Order: sequence, then structure tokens, then C-alpha cells
Amino acid sequence: MPKSKPIKILAIETSCDETAAAVIEKTDSDLEIISNVVTSQIEIHKKYGGVFPEHASRAHVEKIIPVVEEALGNIDPDIIAVTIGPGLIGSLLVGINFAKTLAFAQKKLIIGVNHWLGHIYSNWAEKPYPIFPALILIVSGGHTGLVLMESPNDIEPLGETLDDAAGEAFDKVAKLLNLSYPGGPAISKAAKKGNPKTYNFPRSMLDQKNYNFSFSGLKTAILYETKKLQKMSLKNKADFAASFQQAVIDILIGKTIQAAYEFKPKSICLCGGVSANKELREQMKKAVAKLPWKTSYHVPPIKLSTDNAAMIGIAAAYYLDDATTHDKISADSNLKL
Ligand code: KG4
Ligand code: ZN
Repeated sequence: MPKSKPIKILAIETSCDETAAAVIEKTDSDLEIISNVVTSQIEIHKKYGGVFPEHASRAHVEKIIPVVEEALGNIDPDIIAVTIGPGLIGSLLVGINFAKTLAFAQKKLIIGVNHWLGHIYSNWAEKPYPIFPALILIVSGGHTGLVLMESPNDIEPLGETLDDAAGEAFDKVAKLLNLSYPGGPAISKAAKKGNPKTYNFPRSMLDQKNYNFSFSGLKTAILYETKKLQKMSLKNKADFAASFQQAVIDILIGKTIQAAYEFKPKSICLCGGVSANKELREQMKKAVAKLPWKTSYHVPPIKLSTDNAAMIGIAAAYYLDDATTHDKISADSNLKL
């Protein structure tokens, strides 16, 4: 069979506080990340202890052209992919309008990609790819949920958080412990010196037969416990961090394994910013290995766990038939999977 021409996709991601662009090349049998540029705004938001939406949009405006130029080099892309939500609306609009303008000026097709779908597809960045049916745990700062994927076009949400996302809980607890922003990396660093058994924080909803999550009770339990101390030493902080991190990990792994027993997936995948957490990656791997049937375990490289545009381009590569003209792409931050 004659080989078709490789398709080059320029992907743009500006849903939160990373301005990112990437180029993905799709051939008949392969996907290759040609470039992947991410600029973080951590320094801008650090002093606020969280993302300041107005500053995020302004920084995207400043960075979008240099980031896209760096990702493109002298590549002329065939298709443009852009994150259309969920995310901060002002931030999303910078990426969407930039992508639309480029598509309009250069008469290119454009694909709008859901941010969570991007995280899901970060598991298709490296071979071996997950096998269907795949059970996927998305754990980011804006979302926590489990989905069952029978094929690229058949994704069924099984459950999601009823309050905070896991990453949001990391960020809020870090603030409570006076650790730096973003909270996830700060907590995992502090946790290394702590004892995860010091506090037995609640593992909410693990006894329920559904795939929803809840993390707000955990946050409150820590707040009460910290108030009992007159002064918090570094050791106290480390023990809080380790005990909190272990409680989150137990909830995430517990729900994933419960779902695995019901749906018997051939692959289990982890993705989203919290999947950068080393303890979670390793403990999930061990839990999957213990399942009594053969299930492969997948987690993206750390660089593709947190927000990036390569994952948006990879998702778009699986949806090339959905490519459309620039005037059909709008910002819909409530778009669900
Ligand atoms: O996927 P992401 O980059 O952005 C969203 O889509 O939300 O996820 C960001 C979240 C933040 O809440 C951050 O604290 C968390 O991922 N995170 C981590 C780690 N690195 C980032 N959480 C736990 N451990 C980490 N090492
Ligand atoms: Zn994300």
C-alpha cells in the first residue's frame, strides 16, 4: 500500500498558566513529537499562592508568539490544534484567537481539543501504547476522574471529583502548611522527610460503590490537626505532607483498582499534573502488577504529565477527521468529554 504523506500538526495550549506549543508529525503507523515548548508562569503567580487569572492572560499574550515560533522553527504545519477548554477563559481565548487567526491567514484547518482529552492522550506519547479497553485516571489541578476508553472515539466517564480536584487539594494543603506554590511538587518534596503513618487522615468514599472522589474532607481534617499545634516544626510539616500525600494516593489507587475489577481493562493509565508525583507513579505500578490478569501500566514522562501542547497535538492526531475551519472553533470552557 502506498504510504500517505506525513501530517504536521501545530498544537497550542494556554488553558492555565503555561504557554505551550508543539509540533507533532503523524505518519501511517507512527506519531512523533518534533518539538515541545512550555513556558511556565510560576514566578508571576508565586506571590499570590495560586494562579492570578488576569496576569495569566497577559503573560500568554506576551509569550504566545515566541513560543509558537520556537516550536515551529521552519516547519510549515498542515493543521492547527488548540485547547478549547476547560480552563481559565481569558487564558484560553489567547490561544484560541491566535490559532484561529493563523488558520484564517494561512487557510489551514483547525481542531479544537478538550484539555482533559489532551491529558488522556499524553499516554500515547511513547510506545508501547495502551491497549483497549483502557482505564484512565486523570489527576490534575482542575480535574480528577476515571474514564473507560474502548477506542479513541469511545470514552466513557465513570466518575469524577464531587468537590476539589486532587491537584487543587495538594495546592490548598501546601498553602495551609506554608509551603511554596505550586503545592504538588512542594508537598512531595517535604513528604520525603516525613512519616506517612503519623496521621490517619480520612480516605473519603473508598467504601462507596461508585467512581467519584472527594478531597475536601481531607483538607479540613488537616486544618483541624494543624490547629492543635502551637508551633509547626519542619518535622511536623514533613509528617503532615507525607500523611496527606499517602491519603490522596490511597484514594486514587483504591478507586482505580475497584474500577479495574469491574471493567477488567487491558491497560491502566495515569495522567494529569498530579501524575508527576513519584510516590503515586510507583505505588500505582505496584497495585496494577498485583491484579490477577495481565494489565499493562502507562504513565507519561514527567514533562508530559503537567500541562503541555504535545498532548494536545497527539489527541488531535486521533481526531484528524474532525478538522474544521477557523470559524467553527469557539471557546467553550464547559465542554465535557
Ligand atoms: O495538569 P496540570 O499541569 O494542570 C491542570 O490541568 O490543572 O496539573 C497541575 C496540578 C497542580 O495542582 C500541581 O500542584 C499538581 O498538578 N502537581 C503535583 C505534582 N506536580 C504537579 N501534584 C503532586 N505531586 C507532584 N509532583
Ligand atoms: Zn492540565
